[in-house]
Amino acid sequence: MDFLERHFQLLRGRPARLLREDFCGTAAVCCEWAGRHRQNRAVGVDLDPDVLEWGRRNTLSRLSRAAAKRVELRVGNVVDADPDRPDIVAAMNFSYWLFQDRATLRQYFSGVREALAEDGLFFLDAYGGYDAFREIVEEREIADDEDSFTYTWEQASYNPITGAMTCHIHFAFADGSRLDRAFSYDWRLWTLPEIRELLAEAGFGRVTCYWQGWDANGEADGIFEPAEQADADAGWICYLSAEK
Ligand SMILES: C[S@@+](CC[C@H](N)C(=O)[O-])C[C@H]1O[C@@H](n2cnc3c(N)ncnc32)[C@H](O)[C@@H]1O
Repeated sequence: MDFLERHFQLLRGRPARLLREDFCGTAAVCCEWAGRHRQNRAVGVDLDPDVLEWGRRNTLSRLSRAAAKRVELRVGNVVDADPDRPDIVAAMNFSYWLFQDRATLRQYFSGVREALAEDGLFFLDAYGGYDAFREIVEEREIADDEDSFTYTWEQASYNPITGAMTCHIHFAFADGSRLDRAFSYDWRLWTLPEIRELLAEAGFGRVTCYWQGWDANGEADGIFEPAEQADADAGWICYLSAEK
């Protein structure tokens, strides 16, 4: 959210106030946005009324009453027309990868451009690297004060002819219980050149790619800066901004 705030201000010379979160799920981004400033408003769009309801009860409920009033959760399709004119549309966590062919993804991008304010920005993320094309399982131990569990990311299948991939997230808990396939994704593994070209075809102006640097230990430093060239890493995550 710091990144969105900062880069909108840098590119447009004014603060963003209205943010639309596409594929918002439990609306974490909307709530963080609305809580940051009393003029900030957020609209979350998701097809699934159940996840929005979960967000209402568990995420929205943590905001002050005034901030909660500045969040609208909308059951809808992200490709539908939007009467608002958001400063920012954010499509994060790669959810737009569920659009599996060029025509459908371009149509979504065009709709976002249409919806945006005159100087609006579209922010999205992408991941890749040569490991992204492999059928692999990665485990990560997650621990905080209350909980510890294993998070497993499984790239279960990849079809090089269509670019279609299936991924799952599994959880294993300290008490021995498991949640297998807690989440499953049927995606197209889009590459950055394809995404950038489709944004241009949808009518966006400048498209900027933001890449992380390295810290002293050789780990990604979490600081995303505009880049034109990057290393051919096994796995990377980046952000993009597309200017209306
Ligand atoms: C992986 S979740 C992402 C949730 C959230 N962005 C996050 O990172 O926690 C994908 C969400 O997209 C929603 N979805 C799928 N297709 C959609 C569409 N065409 N329009 C709106 N929402 C859609 C699903 O209901 C699901 O909640």
